[in-house]
Amino acid sequence: MKTQLENIYKSAKADIEKAQSISDIDEIRLKYLSRKGEFNSIKKGLKDLSDEDKRTVGALANQITQDLEALLKEKHEIFYQKELNEKLQHDRIDITLSGKYLPEGKVHPITSTTNEIVSIFQNLGFSVISPELSPEVETEYYNFDMLNVPHDHPARDVQDTFYLKDIPNGVLRSQTSGAQIHVMETQKPPIKVIAPGRVYRNENINSRKNNFFHQIEGLYVDKGITFGDLKGVLNEFIRLYFGSARPTRFRSSFFPFTEPSAEVDVQCIMCQGKGCRTCSGTGWLEVLGAGMVDVNVLKGVGIDPEIYSGFAFGMGVERLSMLKYAIDDIRLFFNNDKRFLEQF
Ligand code: DAH
Repeated sequence: MKTQLENIYKSAKADIEKAQSISDIDEIRLKYLSRKGEFNSIKKGLKDLSDEDKRTVGALANQITQDLEALLKEKHEIFYQKELNEKLQHDRIDITLSGKYLPEGKVHPITSTTNEIVSIFQNLGFSVISPELSPEVETEYYNFDMLNVPHDHPARDVQDTFYLKDIPNGVLRSQTSGAQIHVMETQKPPIKVIAPGRVYRNENINSRKNNFFHQIEGLYVDKGITFGDLKGVLNEFIRLYFGSARPTRFRSSFFPFTEPSAEVDVQCIMCQGKGCRTCSGTGWLEVLGAGMVDVNVLKGVGIDPEIYSGFAFGMGVERLSMLKYAIDDIRLFFNNDKRFLEQF
């Protein structure tokens, strides 16, 4: 048995010397030292030996096993280092290679202008109303009736407003002002909100007009709100949007849902007030409409005009964006020309 063991040891050693790789080493370990390996089958015979022989042969078997383990480990380490080095040589990263170009998306200028205006008003204490109070599909009731717009008002004409076939009195809203009514129907004053959104008008499309565009509506109703508050808020808005040194003027105007009403102009950003093509020689650019909420509108939604007053305003996002970035054609916003969109 002793010679048997020694023979196995010899052949195992020879195998180890011949080994070329980690996988050879693994194979040798399997062949000799695993449970089904050659050593184990011999060790099984130990039980038939005398106690004396058991001890000596057993000790020899253990010694041989340990030696083989040590040899295998040593070889394994050598091959491991060798294979690792080869792999590192081979897989070396070339950090001088240029990176992959990942095209970057941009926020649409209408969205970024809207976001900018919204955040200015949020800083002035206004909150954005929830979308269900500002639907694009409206009824004449919200778009006109409750806003005190007379039945024969030209804005109601199919020439100006898109009427919907399938909804009785349904329209695509022509202004965000209907959101005022939804808010005042559902909330009690103090109300201090803005409503950004898309509106639709049956326009002939040209460089200044599209058949849909975007507005931001504002409404502030509380006790003791005055025209002075309106001027303060809108002047502050214009200062923050256009920059501090830009004069404004409030011109008397008319809207059915405000009384008194005003249109607000800002000094022309192209000619600094001297008069040019953009401002039609006037030196001023109209940027928004506003006024004190008409008593009839307040009464319509059940707010007592003896106790409360308020102001409202509405502005066109495209117009404000065009003025700020000197864009001369509204259609650029909607043509999806990347050369235009990438500039923002
Ligand atoms: N809705 C008006 C328009 O589309 C803009 C407007 C003017 C809104 C005066 C207002 C306002 O809230 O008070 O032309």
